[in-house]
Amino acid sequence: MEKLLQEYRRNVGNFELIDIIDTDKIAALRNHLKVETPMSVNWQWEYGSEVAELRALYEKGKKNQWNASEDIEWDRPVSKDEWMMNPKMSIMAQACQLMGKDEATQKAAAFDEVTYTISQLLHGEQAALQLCGQLTNLCPHTDEKWYAANQVADEARHNEVLARFLSEKMGEIYPIAPMLKILLDELLKAEGYQMKALGMQTLFEGMAVGIMDMLRANTECVLFADILRRVEQDESRHAAFGVLTMRRCVRDASEKEMHAMEDFAFNILETLNANQQLAMLHTIGPKYGIDARLVTEALLKMDNFVDLNSLIYMHTVMPNLKRLGLITERTEQKWRDIGCLTDNRQDGAVKITEPILAG
Ligand SMILES: [Fe+2]
Ligand SMILES: [Fe+2]
Repeated sequence: MEKLLQEYRRNVGNFELIDIIDTDKIAALRNHLKVETPMSVNWQWEYGSEVAELRALYEKGKKNQWNASEDIEWDRPVSKDEWMMNPKMSIMAQACQLMGKDEATQKAAAFDEVTYTISQLLHGEQAALQLCGQLTNLCPHTDEKWYAANQVADEARHNEVLARFLSEKMGEIYPIAPMLKILLDELLKAEGYQMKALGMQTLFEGMAVGIMDMLRANTECVLFADILRRVEQDESRHAAFGVLTMRRCVRDASEKEMHAMEDFAFNILETLNANQQLAMLHTIGPKYGIDARLVTEALLKMDNFVDLNSLIYMHTVMPNLKRLGLITERTEQKWRDIGCLTDNRQDGAVKITEPILAG
């Protein structure tokens, strides 16, 4: 797999940044709704359980269903007067503070940053819904099909709860970031359940859990925290499905197939990381007079860039890839070079106590 998006890459110091600002290209990506995918359907006549841990996970999934329209306290207010996100963790709030803007403006900027981030998570949930539907067809075992079907119901609920939270409480659903659309299409088009499970269940679900956990630990909003907690509980089952499935894929893979999986994982996350927060900053930055490129370059040049950048990656994705044996001597240094892998241990979500943007 070649490096994605060569034409949009440029170097800032040693870092290769991908910045997509071509509005026609962005519109074309968003309007590309019908994606052709190579799909096959796998019949299975063995209805008994062949993978005991997956059958147990399926049972757990059935017991832990919840109803987004009935179990959420939707009348709880959400207000721009509270910090939707800890200002120390919000790039938008800090950029505003450095520009001398008042606290109300900083709060509004953090509110917009959360709205933007949750919008992207929602679009990711839609991809998860569709990809998991693909897995019910592609996976060879009954246990996998049943579990994937159970996850489809979870993902529909996540679409429902996040879309409702955004439209009723935050007032807006931002369109998908161009880079995210490109990468999610890659996963939906990937051949075979191994690459799809790696891409969605391990990489994207892992990233989503890291981001949600971080937001939950750093918000004042009770309703938002409750929604995140419920979604995260489901996502931890999905991550378990990913790990259980990938463990068997890794065990059965040839050296060539292992290299293909290691490189696929690296290329997808390297591309995601190469965009940093540019899509968000380009979209909501101008409202506050913030220059997306200036802020990004300042972040990249900070001494503790790797510590900050790796927080989300070290939460779930990198530890899982390591446990699966998908970070090897051949690839480890590359992960370190792009600031995703560090030796810092990461147990659960970090409460941010120091501002991320230094003056
Ligand atoms: Fe989900
Ligand atoms: Fe999920």
